[in-house]
Amino acid sequence: MGWRAEQPPHIAAGLLLLLLVNLPVTCHQDHQDAVHITAILGESVVFNCQVDFPEDIPVPYVLQWEKKVGETGQDIPIYIWYESYPTHSGEGYEGRVSRVAPDSPYGAASLNVTNIKESDQGWYECKVVFLNRSPNQHKNGTWFHLDVHAPPRFSITPEDIIYVNLGDAIILNCQAEGTPTPEILWFKDANPVEPSGTVGIFNDGTELRISNIRHEDIGDYTCIARNGEGQVSHTARVIIAGGAVITMPPTNQTKLEGEKVQFSCEAKALPGNVTVKWFREGAPVAEVAALETRVTIRRDGALVINPVAADDSGQYLCEVSNGIGDPQSASAYLNVEYPAKVTFTPTVQYLPFRLAGVVQCYIKANPPLQYVTWTKDKRLLEPYQTKDIVIMNNGSLLFTRVNQNHQGRYTCTPYNAQGTQGSSGPMEVLVRKPPVFTVEPEPLYQRKVGESVEMHCEAQEAEGTQRPSVVWRRRDGLPLQKSRVRALGGNITIDTLRRQDFGIYQCVASNEVATIVADTQLVIEGTQPHAPYNVSGTATEFQVTLRWQPGYAGGPDYKQDYTIWYREAGFSEWTKVPVTPSGATSVTINRLQPGTTYEFQVNSKNTIGEGMMSKAITIRTLDVGAKPKAAPTVPGPIDEKIFQNAPEGSGPKSGPPRNLTVTEVHNGFLITWQAPLERAQLVQYYTIKYRTDAQWKTLNRGQIRPEETSYLVKNLVGGRTYYFRVLANSATSYESSEEVKFPVPARVKHKAITAGVVGGILFFIVAIILSVCAVKICNKRKRRKQEKAYNMVAARLTDLRAADSTQVPFKK
Ligand SMILES: *[C@@H]1O[C@H](CO)[C@@H](O)[C@H](O)[C@H]1NC(C)=O
Ligand SMILES: *[C@@H]1O[C@H](CO)[C@@H](O)[C@H](O)[C@H]1NC(C)=O
Ligand SMILES: *[C@@H]1O[C@H](CO)[C@@H](O)[C@H](O)[C@H]1NC(C)=O
Ligand SMILES: *[C@@H]1O[C@H](CO)[C@@H](O)[C@H](O)[C@H]1NC(C)=O
Ligand SMILES: *[C@@H]1O[C@H](CO)[C@@H](O)[C@H](O)[C@H]1NC(C)=O
Ligand SMILES: *[C@@H]1O[C@H](CO)[C@@H](O)[C@H](O)[C@H]1NC(C)=O
Ligand SMILES: *[C@@H]1O[C@H](CO)[C@@H](O)[C@H](O)[C@H]1NC(C)=O
Ligand SMILES: *[C@@H]1O[C@H](CO)[C@@H](O)[C@H](O)[C@H]1NC(C)=O
Repeated sequence: MGWRAEQPPHIAAGLLLLLLVNLPVTCHQDHQDAVHITAILGESVVFNCQVDFPEDIPVPYVLQWEKKVGETGQDIPIYIWYESYPTHSGEGYEGRVSRVAPDSPYGAASLNVTNIKESDQGWYECKVVFLNRSPNQHKNGTWFHLDVHAPPRFSITPEDIIYVNLGDAIILNCQAEGTPTPEILWFKDANPVEPSGTVGIFNDGTELRISNIRHEDIGDYTCIARNGEGQVSHTARVIIAGGAVITMPPTNQTKLEGEKVQFSCEAKALPGNVTVKWFREGAPVAEVAALETRVTIRRDGALVINPVAADDSGQYLCEVSNGIGDPQSASAYLNVEYPAKVTFTPTVQYLPFRLAGVVQCYIKANPPLQYVTWTKDKRLLEPYQTKDIVIMNNGSLLFTRVNQNHQGRYTCTPYNAQGTQGSSGPMEVLVRKPPVFTVEPEPLYQRKVGESVEMHCEAQEAEGTQRPSVVWRRRDGLPLQKSRVRALGGNITIDTLRRQDFGIYQCVASNEVATIVADTQLVIEGTQPHAPYNVSGTATEFQVTLRWQPGYAGGPDYKQDYTIWYREAGFSEWTKVPVTPSGATSVTINRLQPGTTYEFQVNSKNTIGEGMMSKAITIRTLDVGAKPKAAPTVPGPIDEKIFQNAPEGSGPKSGPPRNLTVTEVHNGFLITWQAPLERAQLVQYYTIKYRTDAQWKTLNRGQIRPEETSYLVKNLVGGRTYYFRVLANSATSYESSEEVKFPVPARVKHKAITAGVVGGILFFIVAIILSVCAVKICNKRKRRKQEKAYNMVAARLTDLRAADSTQVPFKK
């Protein structure tokens, strides 16, 4: 209202009077002669209005533009002009309203409204009021109606990229504003979206919903909003999300201690927000205290260790994930090399007089130790010149027969391909007499089951050495059962003997100078036989020949009889075959299926009863004939995996078995079928295949003879759906029946048909082979022989001359 304040008081008063006097009092319900104008949002519009002076004589006038606002239809001035006074702009029109230029083609009272808003829509009146005229002579104003049109613009659009999994449901939301209200159109790739059972358009076209996304739904979805003023579009790309895949896995690396190592681990994924985790030997690197200050994971996923330490060697594994699917991992090994070093220097070591003994050099080396040099009393030791001293593969010094001259002050210096980190400290080596047994156990104790046995042993130290400790152990390493074993000094009592107590026992006496061992054997009479061992076998297509070693028979003069247990790998029930003639330790099992893996165990029994099972071995029978290049002709779309365990070939074959049915009966499920119509005489045997997932398995054990056309299966898992096929096998080929689906009712007891556990194989690392020794000290044959001799000595001190025999159960 600043305009009023700025006016000279008499003018302001006059104008106010004019305005009041001239305010139209009628309601403008209808303006038939009104001018209709359409403007576009943001652009400008000119309301054309003339100034018609009375009698064409210019007189002073006031130009006033009004707009009808609100529901009451009140007229509000939006522009007032009077001579040289500042013009007035109504609220909301500041800076947007002006008179047109005098030289324009429009009338002199025309109003130029710029930057049109949607709220500008409505009725406008142009009023020209001539001053110094009587009020009732004024002319009615000119009416205008303004329509504001706006092109569409989006208020809500879908994400540019939408990651989905097949089967997902998604909603794409596209909303637009504009005048007139825009319509929304949806396109998939270049074509309009066709609503279907899974695709629908809702909420006035603003929502595109897809349920159960399939491959054909993947693509670019465009929504177009359009009205008379224009159109806009937005495209959303629907992509199948992909888990992270490692594109640059780490590689094995060898570094010198102190260098820097970098393991790459780059991955690609959709979406690409991949996180990379690193593990060393299974533990997150961040939690490996020794690495803490030296390890970093770079932004690209690479692991950097700087500098590497000797103990950093090992497996490094990176795991990548973007939250979709299972994380992927890749691993590599770090091999840190360093010059050989001595890890520990004992200040005193003892050698047993007249026995074999070792002076230890404790070494760590990577790459492996090459050789060790020794000094004795500050002079280089030349072991290859002395018959009774050997440097062993691990660098320690072996004396095959210790004498007083071996006493002295020793040092060792290890070397590998990287050199050495120096010598050990000086080690005082003292020669002392070893302990001796004063009481030794009997060579053999023979007891019956349930009895007890007491075994005696006592050892004494030599002068100037410590009292030896005496302990008992089983030579096979099995633990002694504490509850039945009492030890008093070197004497041991085992109560309520069982047949498992059978075995070789050792009395071990040791002090700082030496460890001496005495063996004895405990035999338990009148037991079931022990498990046969060292079972082996050879296979043909239909046969397996087994051989084994008898275990302990259970007592003197006991006779063993064997039974073979076998089954197809993965099945729960065993077939038992007694071995004839009695006592034979080999047998041939016939009527097996070719190309099939079987498990075998050997059980033994004597007059007392059945003994323990041997370890199970698995043997695969040979496949029949050569495998054909072309796929076998099997009707219907059969999973490839059905072919395994069945002879393949293109040879003559029967027609398919017919009318395969599965019926639940009181004691299981009965599978029945009918012989092929065509060439039934070619059927040599039937095989029943089943699956509960993609993997076909063989159901029957042993062959089903051609004259049989039913099979009873006891254990199917309740609630699961099985698929069955029957194969009619000819000599070199087969034909499959139709597939039959059988959902097992959930009430059926849960018991898998494949409950068998396939025995695993344990691998033992028995030796670590150190690298080639230096030429200088290399006298391998001598060394090997003498090392072996030493180990024998450590085990059996009492008979040094027996060093060549590796297994001596009894002493004399
Ligand atoms: C209306 O005003 C705008 C902005 O000042 C100007 O660009 C345009 O030329 C004017 N129109 C007329 C007809 O004077
Ligand atoms: C002016 O408007 C009034 C009311 O709408 C109408 O009755 C009168 O005829 C108009 N005069 C002219 C000259 O158009
Ligand atoms: C990496 O080292 C490991 C362990 O030493 C080895 O098993 C593996 O084969 C090596 N990989 C390659 C690609 O050399
Ligand atoms: C990556 O993004 C997807 C989708 O935005 C999300 O579901 C996932 O959790 C994210 N993954 C990680 C590792 O942040
Ligand atoms: C070296 O080997 C011998 C014989 O195998 C063994 O008795 C000795 O304890 C070993 N020494 C070290 C330090 O490993
Ligand atoms: C061990 O048995 C022997 C022979 O029976 C006996 O002389 C000795 O005293 C026993 N030792 C202990 C510690 O009981
Ligand atoms: C086990 O059997 C193999 C081959 O039959 C044979 O070479 C080996 O000496 C046997 N081992 C024993 C302890 O009998
Ligand atoms: C075997 O199936 C055929 C058609 O598949 C049917 O005509 C025939 O009656 C069935 N035979 C029996 C014994 O069910």
